[in-house]
Amino acid sequence: MVESGLWHPVALAGDVAQAPVAVQVLEQAVVLWRNAAGVVQAFADQCPHRGARLSLGRVTPQGQLECPYHGWQFADDGRCTQVPALPTFVPPPGHCARTFAAREAHGLVWVRMQDGVAVLPAFAAEDDTRLRKLNCGPYDVAASAPRIIENFLDMSHFGFVHEGWLGSRDATAIDDYRVDATRTGLLATGCKAWQPQSNLHSTAAAQVEYTYEVTAPFAAVLTKVPEAGTTAVDGWRESIALFICPITPVRSRVWFRLAVADFDSPDEKLQAFQHTIFTQDQPVLESQTPQCLPLDLRAELHTAADKASSAYRRFLRQSGITFGVC
Ligand code: FES
Ligand code: CO
Repeated sequence: MVESGLWHPVALAGDVAQAPVAVQVLEQAVVLWRNAAGVVQAFADQCPHRGARLSLGRVTPQGQLECPYHGWQFADDGRCTQVPALPTFVPPPGHCARTFAAREAHGLVWVRMQDGVAVLPAFAAEDDTRLRKLNCGPYDVAASAPRIIENFLDMSHFGFVHEGWLGSRDATAIDDYRVDATRTGLLATGCKAWQPQSNLHSTAAAQVEYTYEVTAPFAAVLTKVPEAGTTAVDGWRESIALFICPITPVRSRVWFRLAVADFDSPDEKLQAFQHTIFTQDQPVLESQTPQCLPLDLRAELHTAADKASSAYRRFLRQSGITFGVC
């Protein structure tokens, strides 16, 4: 499965502390924990002895993962170091837990189930010190990851799903925009929308221009193009990344990573705006059938306004993605 070689977000980094944390990705149970140096680790959440969930165990004061059932201890490379029932027994190298690659980035823990793509989904705004970064989520959504990405790329729903916020029924026309294929997905530029309340601080409706970028099969970034004549042309550009963990083909866990110029508002206020918008999308997303995203372009109807989503479907097909598509 191509998806196993991708990096997937699985938890807020701050939520993985002293105790092991159980997560699920690509229908596999995974336990996250931190070694003595505080570096995050990911193992299959199944003890190789009798199959108990390692996430029910604990991290020992020496920084090893201890199984809840018979207390076997595992080092961060997966090797079993101790079998308490046989204190003098030295476990052979084959006594080990299954390990996965794990990393921290964008405020999240990422896991890769097997060798594959070396880099995490890019988020250019992450390194811009003029922007404040914060996470929003997780949201557990009964929809496939590709349906959620496609919703993020879709502007023609603003006047209906986000009426009074990101759109208005009086201004639903979508001007032509440009879509180019990229190495990681696609780039849509010149995307314009008439928005009554485009962000927390909007005081009046405005024509807002965006770019959308698909940075991995299940990751996308929206960047607001600065309006001419504002301080925004100094170079910073507010961005929102959407990072999705495919849990099953029809269930996903969703996070947003916000990069904003607002250093004053409390986190909760910035998150509340994003929360409002996403909880408007969620019931529609969960109502879509089939829940998988059809990659045969004849399966659903498309217009010129949908060309970003048609391009996304072509990209998924070319990439050999099978999870959450049909
Ligand atoms: Fe884990 Fe026995 S099942 S130590
Ligand atoms: Co929406």
